[in-house]
Amino acid sequence: MIRFYQKENIFKLDTPNTSYVMGIACGRYLTHIYYGKYINSVNIGYIIDMDAEDINGIKMDMGEKPGFLDKLPMEYSFGGMGDYRESCIELSSDFGQRGVELLYDSYEIIDGKPELKGLPSTFGEDSQTLIIYLKDDVHGIKVELRYSVFEGIDAVIRSVILKNTGDKTLYVNKILSSCLELPENDYDYLALHGSWGRERHMERQHIGFGKYSVGSARGISSHQEHPFMAVLSEDATQEHGDVYAMNFVYSGNFISQIEKSQFGSHRFVMGINPEGFCWKLSAGEEFTAPEVVLVYSDSGIDKMSHTFHDLYRDHLIRKQWVYAERPVLINNWEGTYFDFDEKKIYDIAEEASKHGIEMLVMDDGWFGHRNDDRTSLGDWYVNEDKLKGGLKKLVDNINSLGMKFGIWFEPEMISPDSDVYREHPDWAVRIPGREPGQRRNQLIIDLSKREVIEYVYESVAKILRSANIEYVKWDMNRGFTDVASACLDSDRQGEVMHRHMLAVYELQGRLLEEFPYLLLENCSSGGGRLDPGMLYYSPQIWCSDDTDAIERLAIQEGTALMYPLSVIGAHVSDCPNHAVGRVTPFETRGIVAMAGTFGYELDITKISDEDRDMISGQVEMYKKYCPLIQSGDYYRVASYQQNHYYDCYEIVSKDKNEAMLVFIQVMAQINMGGRLIKLKGLNPDKKYSIEDKIYTGDTLMNAGFLIKRPDGDFKAKIYNIKAV
Ligand code: GLA
Repeated sequence: MIRFYQKENIFKLDTPNTSYVMGIACGRYLTHIYYGKYINSVNIGYIIDMDAEDINGIKMDMGEKPGFLDKLPMEYSFGGMGDYRESCIELSSDFGQRGVELLYDSYEIIDGKPELKGLPSTFGEDSQTLIIYLKDDVHGIKVELRYSVFEGIDAVIRSVILKNTGDKTLYVNKILSSCLELPENDYDYLALHGSWGRERHMERQHIGFGKYSVGSARGISSHQEHPFMAVLSEDATQEHGDVYAMNFVYSGNFISQIEKSQFGSHRFVMGINPEGFCWKLSAGEEFTAPEVVLVYSDSGIDKMSHTFHDLYRDHLIRKQWVYAERPVLINNWEGTYFDFDEKKIYDIAEEASKHGIEMLVMDDGWFGHRNDDRTSLGDWYVNEDKLKGGLKKLVDNINSLGMKFGIWFEPEMISPDSDVYREHPDWAVRIPGREPGQRRNQLIIDLSKREVIEYVYESVAKILRSANIEYVKWDMNRGFTDVASACLDSDRQGEVMHRHMLAVYELQGRLLEEFPYLLLENCSSGGGRLDPGMLYYSPQIWCSDDTDAIERLAIQEGTALMYPLSVIGAHVSDCPNHAVGRVTPFETRGIVAMAGTFGYELDITKISDEDRDMISGQVEMYKKYCPLIQSGDYYRVASYQQNHYYDCYEIVSKDKNEAMLVFIQVMAQINMGGRLIKLKGLNPDKKYSIEDKIYTGDTLMNAGFLIKRPDGDFKAKIYNIKAV
């Protein structure tokens, strides 16, 4: 519920367990007052001495304005007037004038949540939105701060719209989407970092004075850092303590930063990375900054994860897919790489169909004359030398096995060795006069150009119209360099990467309109673009090119911090693993891949009979647990990343009648008995059966469940827990 309390001069947003409070200080500045556990009272302005002449001991008069602003907890910070902490907005005008002063103007509260033009955003009718208008008459701007809440969800969704209400052209050098002030306290931050094949590893550190910042300037949300950060009270654990988290609903450049000020207070911000960004805003135009999801948990990290998972399942991922059973797929990438023809693809599909696999995904290498990664991106026509008889015939044949068919594209790219590049060398992102840097022998296609967007759309759509294709893997395999566009004026070159993202969103949105049944899986050299922006279009995202079951434990743990398991693309691949050379049991690979959208990534005609014979059992097991995996509450019980011996997680149905406990022994230890695991999330008063023994919920959660020590490394087991 959202209300403005006139007498107290306070805005208060309440969710079931949290309150978010702002005030108007000195009749001028929108000030942050409180975010945390739900409070009933509205008499809370005293926290910042809001009614006094002076706030926080500093007088708001013209003799002390900078000192006053440097201490005030700002709801949306601005620089150049005295607040030297991180600003959310920076502009320059034709005069070169930069300082901004945002003054409170007005507000409205509306039912529902308006869409964000051209951007992915959370949705749902059971919502309410507060819009607060700030203005700076000297620049001639109006800033619209939007806050939405959904019934039953402990999250606040924020976005910002900047309008040029004056008659001069402005340049927006920086526009962040969210700012949260936290009072003096000892906090840690939790962020996700990584690399190709090593995405979203968790890192927790104490926050000292100064700024800690993560971000991406690569044009994708990236493998290296993630548009997520949490600030935790020092004592916070999985089950206890304060957690304040932000996650950005955007797939391009971002920053996320926590700053501890001279006074011990903290400013936590998130938004589009200002590095390289500059948006020209002519008179009358507006710019919409993507939204940030803000979550507070008073009971540690598990509860934070539950809030994100519930929000994304019910208000971000398309309804048609979110709880639908996804087809178990087999992808030929690790099985064949570029070395396949129509017979190989058919043979894989035919064998797979005998083992319960439901969809064949033909990966990279079916188009142009692409037999390695040096050619043909952009030439989206079928290579009939490779796929003799054409695509439709292959798809029909696979369909007649009772299997669906999916296909790979990398639409945002152009190979210098391609017909399209030879015809349109100006279609690549590049700096005039400079040889553009290639990665994986490819360049980025310039989506700032309308005709390129149309070309890309038609290229993909034409293939989809040509056969019964029910799934697309949309890949993106390089970061931006040499950023410039031949079709934009010199004062718009800072727009290229954001325009690219807007075009990608437009393209994916249009595809889903024309092919509403399509299952879209995003991918970016593995998990380089697994973020909430992409989730709006694709209900599943390839999580990492590292398919090793052990490496995946840390990757999937970090990913599941805020993304539901139903979105995490996870496949069983062959051994020795192609990424790390490790050999793990086929059974363990299956169990680890079940904490996601399950599939296979191997040549099923070549693996051992013993492994192949296990597939139908794995598919059956996945189907059995699928409803739980897709809709249950996920609890992290033990982390291999932290203890170096074993991993353990639990998924509990919302009604607490069923659960699954997944235990993976990575390294056996000498002289160890079983492991006593305290279960979570059960009903203490219910009785549960595990492997034919009956326990009470309170016993399992307080005394624990004894897992017998498996022999050897890399052993995994799922325990089915059922209320009786
Ligand atoms: C990326 C993806 C892989 C595969 C290859 C194909 O690396 O992450 O899964 O599709 O591209 O080139």
